[in-house]
Amino acid sequence: MTDRYAVIGNPVEHSLSPAIHAEFARATGQDLDYRRILAPLDGFRAAALKFRDQGGKGLNVTLPFKHAAWNLVEAHSGFAMDAGAVNTIDFREGGSVGHNTDGTGLVRDLKENLGNPLRGRRVLLMGSGGATYGVMEPLLRELPDFVVVANRTLEKAVALVGHFEKFQKFAVRGIAARPYSALAGTRFDVVINATSAGLADVMPPLPDDIFAPDALAYEMVYGRRTLFMKFALERGAKTADGLGMLVEQAAESFFIWRGVRPETKPVIEMLRKK
Ligand code: ATR
Repeated sequence: MTDRYAVIGNPVEHSLSPAIHAEFARATGQDLDYRRILAPLDGFRAAALKFRDQGGKGLNVTLPFKHAAWNLVEAHSGFAMDAGAVNTIDFREGGSVGHNTDGTGLVRDLKENLGNPLRGRRVLLMGSGGATYGVMEPLLRELPDFVVVANRTLEKAVALVGHFEKFQKFAVRGIAARPYSALAGTRFDVVINATSAGLADVMPPLPDDIFAPDALAYEMVYGRRTLFMKFALERGAKTADGLGMLVEQAAESFFIWRGVRPETKPVIEMLRKK
């Protein structure tokens, strides 16, 4: 029988996940069906469990349900535990295991697709919401020089850095929380926009000299050139949007569910042409 999977969110109609997983399945010869589920804002749990009870094998979880998914699952695997957010649920054998593949997706995109390994790099992460929590541990495990988390509301950045303190040892010079106003004078090799500002087209207040020579500005939003990307281009930095991260996190989910690792580059190219 064809195994069933879905992405659950609200809104979810624009999700590219069905197209990505359909292409992975075609390319690897896997027999699966992958749909979208629009859950009411107060109805994530009921919708997810209904899908499982009807034989669904796994879910991808998108906004705003990643934290609710963390609460729903019986066990947390790998990076999900400390991220406090789950984007992949495995319902095999009647149980529910929650994973978070967002950080793995980001790191793979940086390393494999963009040729930007994080080892020894100075990393600035903007934002202290769910997106930042999701990627923090995998980023630190890449052994960067240091990671600074900047946020408009400083207390949230301080709380986040405290939450990940046990991974501090992975960064040569540790991790720190800073307001944007304290960034002047420090240069970074990789600047990642994990705020929701990309969506609202609001530019986080970065100083002009934030980019080290040959720096990469990474925007987690995909499909358009945001103000952050324009800002970076005007200052000579390389830029990337989050499409590669989207495909890479999907590939990691696919691997968890199917035990097969699909090729990602052809899928990224296919989506760029659309
Ligand atoms: P997500 O789960 O997508 O990360 P979130 O939890 O709502 O979303 O977090 C959004 C992040 O974007 C926060 O860090 C927020 O900053 P505050 O904590 O100060 O609210 C940040 N953000 C949103 N709009 C912003 C803006 N105009 N300028 C700078 N940061 C912004």
